[in-house]
Amino acid sequence: MPMLILLPLLLLCYGVGNIHCSTVHDNSGDLKALLDFRQGIPSDPYGAMSNWTMNSHFCRWNGITCTWTRRQWRVLSLALPDKNLARKISCSLCNLTFLVYLDLSSNNFVSPLPDALTNCSNLNYLDLSSNLLVGTIPPKLGLLSHLNFLDLRSNHFEGSIPGELGQLVNLRSLILGENSLSGEIPHAIFNNLSSLRYLYLYSNSLGKALPSNIGELSLIS
Ligand SMILES: *[C@@H]1O[C@H](CO)[C@@H](O)[C@H](O)[C@H]1NC(C)=O
Ligand SMILES: *[C@@H]1O[C@H](CO)[C@@H](O)[C@H](O)[C@H]1NC(C)=O
Ligand SMILES: *[C@@H]1O[C@H](CO)[C@@H](O)[C@H](O)[C@H]1NC(C)=O
Ligand SMILES: *[C@@H]1O[C@H](CO)[C@@H](O)[C@H](O)[C@H]1NC(C)=O
Repeated sequence: MPMLILLPLLLLCYGVGNIHCSTVHDNSGDLKALLDFRQGIPSDPYGAMSNWTMNSHFCRWNGITCTWTRRQWRVLSLALPDKNLARKISCSLCNLTFLVYLDLSSNNFVSPLPDALTNCSNLNYLDLSSNLLVGTIPPKLGLLSHLNFLDLRSNHFEGSIPGELGQLVNLRSLILGENSLSGEIPHAIFNNLSSLRYLYLYSNSLGKALPSNIGELSLIS
């Protein structure tokens, strides 16, 4: 799939020479957002982003997959798991308005979750597990209505689970375990999330009151 998406671009780039291909069908907003995201990452010990340079189109950078849409290349997926990246997840990531898939799991990001993540309104896969993220889970995450996989496990999130997550009607997996969350599990999660099949809340300080009928849900709390 990624190969099929990239093929026309590769032909284009080889056709006109590597140096200039980035200016041919560029989305400058996506390019700026990616450069700003990289700016927030002073530590990249494995060189995972070493080919994020202007010598090649951003669609060929490590971890990036693009889609051709409205006569532009747009970033569809950003996946850099397990690269020891630190420190900040830049807010401008949310300027990647076509982003569908974001996996920055198993790194050393320490920032709070950018509130503006909700601008990535097409996101359906969000994995920020096993980082050092702090603060509360923004209620606005409930606006990511296409989300079907949300994994924030093993961070330092505190506060309660926002009831707004009950708006994520397409969610199949909700994985919030191994944080410092407290309070009750919002009823909307059981009442509204009819697609939910996997709920992992293990190792938090959540209230124990669980509804008796949780249907097909496999729950690890
Ligand atoms: C992200 O978008 C906002 C609002 O359109 C803009 O002000 C900002 O400059 C953008 N950031 C980057 C790094 O492109
Ligand atoms: C960047 O690195 C990735 C992973 O090593 C590789 O697949 C990709 O082809 C590289 N891109 C360029 C332009 O060298
Ligand atoms: C999010 O989108 C809104 C509306 O398009 C825009 O005004 C705002 O600047 C965006 N925020 C960021 C951080 O890009
Ligand atoms: C749950 O669903 C009901 C009925 O569709 C809706 O009124 C309510 O706002 C939803 N709750 C949340 C937290 O999304």
